[in-house]
Amino acid sequence: MAVDVASLPARIRHRFPVFEQRVYINSCSQGALSDSVRAAYAQYLDDWDEHGAPWEYWVGRLEAVRAAVASLVNANEDEIAVTTSVSAGVSALASGLRFDQGRDTVIVSDFEFPTIGQIWHAQERRGIRVVHVPAEADGTIPLERFAAAIDERTALVATTHVCFRNGGRLDVEGIARIAHERGALVLVDAYQTVGSLPIDVRALGCDFLAAGVLKYLLGSAGLGFLYCRCELVETIEPTATGWFADRDIFQMDIHDYSPAPTARRFEAGTPPVPSTYAAIAGIELMREIGIAETEAHVRELNALLRDGVDELGARVVTPREPERSGALVCIASTDVNMLVAALADEGIVTSCRDDNLRVSPHCYNTAEDVQMLLDALAANRQLLA
Ligand SMILES: Cc1ncc(COP(=O)(O)O)c(C=O)c1O
Repeated sequence: MAVDVASLPARIRHRFPVFEQRVYINSCSQGALSDSVRAAYAQYLDDWDEHGAPWEYWVGRLEAVRAAVASLVNANEDEIAVTTSVSAGVSALASGLRFDQGRDTVIVSDFEFPTIGQIWHAQERRGIRVVHVPAEADGTIPLERFAAAIDERTALVATTHVCFRNGGRLDVEGIARIAHERGALVLVDAYQTVGSLPIDVRALGCDFLAAGVLKYLLGSAGLGFLYCRCELVETIEPTATGWFADRDIFQMDIHDYSPAPTARRFEAGTPPVPSTYAAIAGIELMREIGIAETEAHVRELNALLRDGVDELGARVVTPREPERSGALVCIASTDVNMLVAALADEGIVTSCRDDNLRVSPHCYNTAEDVQMLLDALAANRQLLA
């Protein structure tokens, strides 16, 4: 897709007031606040004032999130659990997975977010074995490393789509193919990609996919989701559960556990009502802006960024090949906390992990934002490795 880097932000940037004060280039942490998400929160308060406790309507909002997420990732509504975080959805999944027929092992890539590693290691208390797939020195994890790790003892492979630490993108389709050939299931953590590029669970070939709306979906904190492939839903009985996971929520039966026949069985207690308003507004806004257009736009910006960092003689640690990276670009630093603070002094909001500066442009960022960042990096060249 040929793109003009000015046209997308020219159309939408005015809807994100943070840009009146800052160069915000940190969507890998949190998306910028839009006028529509602000209005959605105001609407929640108005509804609460006006109606008291409109629970029927609020449960309807939850279903609207389910529908929006399903269409976003090309799933059926019955395959989506709306959760309060990735952690909540994946914990429910872990609690219900059966590790039988000699399959006692979970394979975890070394690119995982802490919550994923920790949840699977918590299962060691249940006798599960966890095996890590290590990264190469160049910051990639080649498919062969997964192929070497996955075997007849593997119950599940947990893989991130894009790594939150270094921006490296994994070959999820390839991993899923190998895992399925060997009888294992695949969980994808798509938090660093959803909203920044089109996600299609069928094309990825995964069995489960978890993410949330805080980052590139612009929807703020408190709401995540878990996709579970329809054929698997009723084979998994979560023991981390709650009344919103029940077959009939309003039966209020305390003598029985009957999980919903759909992916709602991975939910738990009272839904995050305010976050449902924000999630709907954020997802709608991203769809209106265009996720494929955003991906192409961000690729152009990141090409400018990489060229500028090269000119400074500094080092981008995120792999260069388009299929090995996403929106997040990480730059090696000698003192990354000082670098983030120096950029903040210039009004530029970024973040860091390990020794890497994280720069994560989105639909609203411009070539001027990138140039301002590069100028600030040049002024702080001694902080770049
Ligand atoms: C890849 C990835 N997974 C998960 C999370 C967060 O998970 P949770 O919703 O459980 O806080 C983040 C960021 O916060 C992330 O970058």
